Amino acid sequence: SKKPVRVAVTGAAGQIGYALLFRIASGEMLGKDQPVILQLLEIPDEKAQNALKGVIMELEDCAFPLLAGIEAHSDPMTAFKDTDYALLVGARPRGPGMERSDLLAANAQIFTVQGKALNAVASRNVKVLVVGNPANTNAYIAMKSAPDLPAKNFTAMLRLDHNRAASQIAAKTGKPVAGIEKLAVWGNHSPTMYADYRYATIDGQSVKALINDEEWNRTTFLPTVGKRGAAIIAARGLSSAASAANAAIDHMRDWALGTNGKWVTMGIPSDGSYGIPKEVMFGYPVTVENGEYKIVQGLEIDAFSQECINKTLNELLEEQNGVKHLL
Ligand code: NAI
Repeated sequence: SKKPVRVAVTGAAGQIGYALLFRIASGEMLGKDQPVILQLLEIPDEKAQNALKGVIMELEDCAFPLLAGIEAHSDPMTAFKDTDYALLVGARPRGPGMERSDLLAANAQIFTVQGKALNAVASRNVKVLVVGNPANTNAYIAMKSAPDLPAKNFTAMLRLDHNRAASQIAAKTGKPVAGIEKLAVWGNHSPTMYADYRYATIDGQSVKALINDEEWNRTTFLPTVGKRGAAIIAARGLSSAASAANAAIDHMRDWALGTNGKWVTMGIPSDGSYGIPKEVMFGYPVTVENGEYKIVQGLEIDAFSQECINKTLNELLEEQNGVKHLL
């Protein structure tokens, strides 16, 4: 049987952690033949560490055959030791009266420390997914704080936006979500993201032709996908957790095991494709083979799409600019 791999998860006692860890341990992320060792990080705070102990007791009580070990940590330097996968979920939420700049600064601090720790102790091939918001900028900070690791190992989660878009398209066309291919989400994980179905097919038919309603695209579809996170908070009183965990599983599974030619969306450091400045952590359509993602090239960007891409890019550049002095 395969040698266990090490999976670090931060914010492990949080909402997303609770929806995520059991699925990783059951083999849904890396395959039903891949044993895992969980290296769980929480803040040193006693309440958080106690909650983490409770989660670990429950993981033990599942008697998962693939769970080869569980560790609790309060220091990223030990949590990330030799880790092959790192899911950075824990982040500082926006508190009452907190300005956006305060939020950026608090998270810049967390992701600088965690990037440095990954740089120092993680596997040189570590695959890093940042979920904690602002996800793209946090991933950018971690990448910049880990100069000895390849920049391409750092990614941000756009997959929830991708899955939300797929679900809206399935509902609109009345066709099964599983039939959707070639969907793309460009840019920032924020309401400015640009979900683009111009190239998408569903059961082999053009989604654009099936829907044939550009007004719906602009005034219903894009705002619905962009504001879905806020709609869930309004309905549930808590931010999306199970769907976020599910997207994290999808992102890591596809990165590790490949997509068989299927397009998925990942936030990745730009290589300059589509005119996005190098290193901007940007949502792109990608395919994955042998653990390496590749940007889907050659898509025509029409005037409306360019306008949307510029808007989400400008927001990311502003965020990046807001943390520059902290790096
Ligand atoms: P939560 O507040 O329930 O849990 C976060 C956990 O992280 C807490 O237990 C906290 O103690 C821990 N934490 C905070 N700072 C930490 C640090 N420096 N090291 C280790 N642990 C730390 O929050 P929830 O609902 O689990 O969400 C986590 C993050 O994911 C939030 O930033 C949220 O905005 C983001 N999110 C991102 C999505 C995406 O699509 N990219 C979707 C949904 C949520």
